[in-house]
Amino acid sequence: MTQAWSKLEQSAARLSAQHLRELIDTDQRFESLSFRHEGMLMDLSRQRIDAQVMNELLALADEKQLPSAIKALLQGEHVNNTEDRAALHSALRLPKSAQLQVDDQDVVSDVHKTLDRMEQFVNQIHQGQWRGYTGKPITDVVNIGVGGSDLGPLMICEATHQFRPEASLNIGLHFVSSMDGSQLSNLLLELDSETTLFVLSSKSFGTIDTLANAATAVDWLQERSGLNRELLIKQHFIGVTAAPEKAIAWGLSEETLLEFWEWTGGRYSLWSAIGLPIAISIGMQGFRDLLAGAHSMDKHFEEAEFANNLPVLLALIGIWNINFQDIHAHAILPYDGRLAHLPAYLEQLEMESNGKSVGIDGSSIAQRTCPILWGEIGPNAQHAFYQLLHQGTERVMCDFIVPARRYVDRESSLQEQHQLALANCLAQARVLALGDAALTDGIERPAWQRYFGNQPSTVLMLDELTPYNLGSLIALYEHKVYVQAVIWGINPFDQWGVELGKKVANDLITALNQSADHQYDPATEGLLNEIQNLRGNGQ
Ligand code: F6P
Repeated sequence: MTQAWSKLEQSAARLSAQHLRELIDTDQRFESLSFRHEGMLMDLSRQRIDAQVMNELLALADEKQLPSAIKALLQGEHVNNTEDRAALHSALRLPKSAQLQVDDQDVVSDVHKTLDRMEQFVNQIHQGQWRGYTGKPITDVVNIGVGGSDLGPLMICEATHQFRPEASLNIGLHFVSSMDGSQLSNLLLELDSETTLFVLSSKSFGTIDTLANAATAVDWLQERSGLNRELLIKQHFIGVTAAPEKAIAWGLSEETLLEFWEWTGGRYSLWSAIGLPIAISIGMQGFRDLLAGAHSMDKHFEEAEFANNLPVLLALIGIWNINFQDIHAHAILPYDGRLAHLPAYLEQLEMESNGKSVGIDGSSIAQRTCPILWGEIGPNAQHAFYQLLHQGTERVMCDFIVPARRYVDRESSLQEQHQLALANCLAQARVLALGDAALTDGIERPAWQRYFGNQPSTVLMLDELTPYNLGSLIALYEHKVYVQAVIWGINPFDQWGVELGKKVANDLITALNQSADHQYDPATEGLLNEIQNLRGNGQ
């Protein structure tokens, strides 16, 4: 236990009897606890902290040697110790003029060569030069991928739809991820095989979910065209992977492959060629703006003093809530329908990175780590789970994410809708913090109409939701995750916890397909028997 940790425990005891409404009601509260980086404001004034806690959290960061840990990350040291590699997602957004040599690789040059190849692909698609098996230009692009090879591009494409250039307006963009084929089977009923291009996205090129969807897509193309697999893959598939040899063995050729590198974690990969659907949607300029926004946050993370460093502060507030306020649920609440997929994206980013209980040295972690994260478009969640936030027994920390300006050149009714969303965002943050004290009518209410408040929240307000600001926002969360991992002493860049399930599923496929001898646990055997009986009865 470090000195700062003990002091924070004492501070938690000191503040335990104080309600957030009292903490908020102090001089210069907003001025001292809101922080800006370019088009983003981070407001921590509704957190259960005071100046002393903030200083102790900053001391904790120093005690945990955060400055050198940040350097190690950005310079490409092997911070992913269990896989012995760097985690260089920040390098994917370095400008061409930068230099970074890691493990004998000229990283910046390779990154920009790939960006240039992506640009060629995007131009061919936009200009109608990428043609299907009957010579017609592509009208629909389907990304097949899962986890990091799906969630990032899906989230960004949805959020930036309005920034599509003229050239991409007629291209339909679709995402399929589910291994059971639900999304794909519906889509294949609507799409035209002659004009559909599949982007097969898989870092490992070994994910069964993705390969199963890809096999169905190939079957569909073959059935519709009567042509051979090789030719169809050549014209109707682009592969994006860090395992080119496996992609080539599957049938792709080098000309239709975009590569990235092992040092890009799956959930950190939207900035790599995995972002191809984004570039198809908002054009290469839009994609470069996204990278530039993220790069700007990288620089801020690297250079800003911790007392004004947004990712560091966001991480420290999380540490305070989780480890000193005993809060283990975190709601992500965007007040903007364009960010509908942000909660799912952050669920993977945070929980797959920091949902761990073993330290970097293999020892058990003594304190709590990543909380349970979930979320929904805020206004919709108001009609679903806010009851629990306001009157349940769980302590929850919330992130409100909202743009200050929207629809500036659009109908006034849409502008009013945005005002409505803003008012609701501010109201919810206020009621969660103050509880009943947000009421000014002085009326006594029965217990079931009372609000305790005291639920902490952060407001992240973007001046506007643009590709640049969105890039900054996502990089903010990435770095927050890293800072928390450093404080907890864990490796946020591996994901061993997902492996065993995959292995056991492989085994069970065999058991499902043949009634060979097997002896699983009674619960699994029970279900296998039920399935076999139902099959036997033709149901
Ligand atoms: O199983 C988890 C995971 O490995 C994620 O980390 C990753 O984003 C996802 O699967 C997809 O992996 P791939 O891009 O290799 O198909």
